[in-house]
Amino acid sequence: MKLYINKASPFARKARILAHEAGIADRIEEIDIVVSPVKVNEVLALENPLVKIPALVTDSGETFYDSPVICEYLDTVHDKPKFFPEAGARRFAALRIQALTDGMLDAAVLCRYETAVRPEPLRWKDWIEGQKGKVFGGLGALEAEVASWGDAFGIAQIGAACALGYLDFRFADWGWRAGHPKLTAWFERASRRPSVAATMPPA
Ligand code: BEZ
Repeated sequence: MKLYINKASPFARKARILAHEAGIADRIEEIDIVVSPVKVNEVLALENPLVKIPALVTDSGETFYDSPVICEYLDTVHDKPKFFPEAGARRFAALRIQALTDGMLDAAVLCRYETAVRPEPLRWKDWIEGQKGKVFGGLGALEAEVASWGDAFGIAQIGAACALGYLDFRFADWGWRAGHPKLTAWFERASRRPSVAATMPPA
């Protein structure tokens, strides 16, 4: 399998962590590419019309995107316990948290583009604050339920690790840990996992 990634991408990191945890990382060739919201990557465009990472090309030549679909596909090609609960309330609880953490990441990445890519005179402070508010709404929701996770490390926790890791990586000045002590303690433990340590974004 070939996985189009950028090592800074928190969405690609979800697939990379799951692959490590599932013991299938050695079956995946990572193709590290540069992506930009304002410049089409022609190689990626051949695989994903949205020109977004991650994109996974399977051994039979199909291409899957986006990160929830890729993670769910990868969960079908290993023999370890599943990262997506198969059915029922547990499945929908996991999918909800995945949606929550993906939404936090959507908002944070938009803020990143707004501050790092958009020319200064075109930036809109209220819009950035609106996106930041979504991230902090998500942090509050995670803080309220993290105690119920115990030692679980499925797709919900992979999503949370990627969201918190991205905040540390790009928005350390937001100080997300303040007011979120349970989440802080959980993330400290999660960060010790080899899969999480091996996929840290570059300094
Ligand atoms: C980043 O550099 O923050 C980034 C890179 C790829 C996708 C999303 C974010």
